[in-house]
Amino acid sequence: MNKIKALSKDEAKGRIDALTQELNRHNYLYYALDRPEIPDEAYDSMLRELQGLEEAFPELKRPDSPTSRVGIPPTKAFKKVAHRAPMLSLDNVFTKAEFEEFDARIQRFLNARSPIEYCTEPKVDGIAVELVYENGLFVQGSTRGDGYTGEDVTANLKTIQQIPLRLLAPANSQGLPSLLEVRGEVYMTKREFLRLNEEREANLKPVFANPRNAAAGSLRQLDPKITARRRLRFFAHGVGMMEGESFRLHSEMMEAFERYGIPTAPKRKTCKGLQEAFSALETLESFRVQAPFGMDGAVVKVNDLELVRRLGDKTRSPRWAVAYKFSAIAGKTKVLDIRVFVGRTGVLTPVAILAPVNVGGVTVSRASLHTYDELAKKDVRIGDAVLVTRAGDVIPEVYAVLKEERTGKEAAFRMPERCVACGGNIIKEGAYYRCVRGLACNAQLKQTLRHFCSKGAFNVLGLGKKWLEKLLDNGVIHDVADVFLLHEKKEDLLALEGMGQRLLQNLLASIERSKRIQLARFLYALGIRHVGEYVAKQLAEHLRSLEAIERASKGELQEIPGVGPEIAESVSSFFQEPGNMRVIEKLRSLGVVVLNPTEQRCGSSPLRGKTFLFTGELERFSREEAKRLVEALGARAVSTPSAKVDYVIAGRNPGSKEQKSRELGLTIVDEPTFYKIIEANHAA
Ligand code: IVH
Repeated sequence: MNKIKALSKDEAKGRIDALTQELNRHNYLYYALDRPEIPDEAYDSMLRELQGLEEAFPELKRPDSPTSRVGIPPTKAFKKVAHRAPMLSLDNVFTKAEFEEFDARIQRFLNARSPIEYCTEPKVDGIAVELVYENGLFVQGSTRGDGYTGEDVTANLKTIQQIPLRLLAPANSQGLPSLLEVRGEVYMTKREFLRLNEEREANLKPVFANPRNAAAGSLRQLDPKITARRRLRFFAHGVGMMEGESFRLHSEMMEAFERYGIPTAPKRKTCKGLQEAFSALETLESFRVQAPFGMDGAVVKVNDLELVRRLGDKTRSPRWAVAYKFSAIAGKTKVLDIRVFVGRTGVLTPVAILAPVNVGGVTVSRASLHTYDELAKKDVRIGDAVLVTRAGDVIPEVYAVLKEERTGKEAAFRMPERCVACGGNIIKEGAYYRCVRGLACNAQLKQTLRHFCSKGAFNVLGLGKKWLEKLLDNGVIHDVADVFLLHEKKEDLLALEGMGQRLLQNLLASIERSKRIQLARFLYALGIRHVGEYVAKQLAEHLRSLEAIERASKGELQEIPGVGPEIAESVSSFFQEPGNMRVIEKLRSLGVVVLNPTEQRCGSSPLRGKTFLFTGELERFSREEAKRLVEALGARAVSTPSAKVDYVIAGRNPGSKEQKSRELGLTIVDEPTFYKIIEANHAA
C-alpha cells in the first residue's frame, strides 16, 4: 500500500511482478514443502500490498497472481471441457496371483527378457482432475467427467494453494514444457475431513460419508469461495499431453513435476521386477493406517515411458498400470449399548458402544450412528452382531447388521423424549434432535467452555476438559466469562481435588495472559455458528474491529470473501441477541482486551484512532480503496458526518454530507491535501 499514488506505471509493474513471484515462491515453500521461510504477517502484508497495487492498476494484474486464488464470483454451471487425451481408469487386482498375471501379460506383450522396472505409488482416494499449463501458466483445470469430457473447475482449482499458478522454472523459462497436462488427484486430508464434519454437525448440516465425497462436494461448488474454505490438496500422478519436453522414466517425470512446484504422492518407489514391486505394495498397505489421506489401494506402473508407449491403452484402461486394491478394513463385533451424546450446539447424537475390535490396526469401541433416521434405517439394536469399517479409512462406522445372528433378545433403541444431559425439551430440526436450552444445558456449556479455552481461541493453558468439568460440576463457574473471575475464587479452586498452589498460579497466569486477544481469535472463541477459524480471520481482516462487525449489515458481511448468506445471517443474529452482548460486555468488564488487526501493525501511526469521512468522487481511488488506505494506517472511515469525524475528504460533487459537515464545523480537505496527510503519515 506504501505510496501507491507516487508510483509510475512502470514502477508499479516492476513491483507487481516482483511481489507475484515472491508470493508464489512462499506459497510453494509453505504449501508444497511445508517449509515456510517468513512469518505469516510478512506474507500477509506483501499480499495486501499486491492487492492494493492491483486495484490501482488492474491492467497490470498477472494471470498467476496469488490474489486470484479467492474472490472469483460463482458461476451458474460448469462449462464442459473436452480432454485432448482421454482420462482412463485402472484395472484392479486383489491378490498376489492376479498381480503375477499382470506382470506376465506385460512380459509376453513386450517379449521381455529381463524383469520389468515398476513404479509403485499410493492410490489416493480423491477426485481425478487435469491441470493444463501453457508455457508454465495454469490456464485450465477440469474434472475427469466421463473420461472424454469433463467440467471446467479452473476457478475452484485456483483456490487450492498447492496447485501452482505458474510452474517454477529457471529464470528464462527454459526447460519447461510448452504444453503440460498434469493428471492428478484432488483430495482432503483425514484431519480436514474430520474438522469439516465436526463443523457441519455443529451447524446441523448433513455430514460427508468419507474424505472422497467431501473432496468431490467441495471441488464441484459453483461458488469457489466455498471451495477455498475447504482446504483441499492435490497430488500429481501422471500426464495427458506434453509438448516441448520429454522424459525417459515415469519416476523422472514425477521428479521434474516436483521441481516445477507440483506436489506428487509420497512413498513413490521404483522396483526391479515382480517380487520387489509386490513387497512395495504390501508396504503401502501397511502405510494406509497412518497416511494423512485416504487410500483405497496402490498403483503399479511400468516406469520406462518407451515401454508405456509400446504397451498402450485398452478402451477403458491402460495396459501399463494396474491398481492393487486393499482388502476392506472391517471387524466383527457386538453392540453393547446405544447411548446419546449432546454436542456444543445441543444436537443429540446416538452412538453405538461396541465391544472393542481391531479395525485395520486401530481399536474401535464406539461408532457414531449420526442421526436417529440413519440408525432406524440400518435397524441397529442393542445386542446385535455388526460389521464395523472405517469410512474413508477414518470414521468408525457400523457397516452392516448381521440380522441372521439375532437371538430375539436384542433391544430396539428409542430416542429419549428429553435432553439426556439437562432434561430440557427436545425439538427436531431436519434430521437432528436438539436440546433447546442452550448454555443452560450443562453438556452444551461444557463443550462451549472447552472451545472457548482451546488453542485457537483464548488458549488458556491448564484448563482442559477435566478441570472445566470440575469447575462446572462444583459450581465454581457458570458461564464462559467466569473464567476471568477465577482469580477471585482461589479458595474454591484450592478446595478441588488435585489443585495445588503452583498449578493455581500457573493457571491464573495463563488466564491473565489470554486476556489480550486478537480479534480473529476472539470471534472464533465466541462459538458463533458457522464461524470457524477461517471465517473469523476473514471477518477480522476485512472489518478490523469488533464494533464494525457488530454493526455490519448482512449485505456488508456478504461482501467479505468466504462469507455467504448463511454465515452473514448467523453472525448478524448473534450480535443482535442481547444475551450474547451481555457476555461480551461481561468479558470486557473483566479486563478482556480485543486487539484489532490495525492496532497491532500500526502501533505508532499518527493517524491511529482518527476518523475519516469521504464524500464525492475521488480522482485516484475508489471510495472503498481510500477507506482501506486509511484503515491500513490505523484510522477508520465512516459514512455519516458527526462530531467524531476528524477529517472530511471532499472529492468532486460532494453533496449533502459536505453541507452537514460544514454545519458541524468539521475539518474539510480536498483530495490533494488528503494525499499529503497520508504521505506525511506514511513517512512517520
Ligand atoms: S495412474 C490411466 N496413479 O485412480 C489412469 N491413478 O481408478 C492412470 N488415482 O482415474 C492413473 N491415485 O484418478 C494413478 N497414484 C495414482 C493414483 C491414481 C489415484 C486415481 C486416478 C484414476 C483412478 C483409477
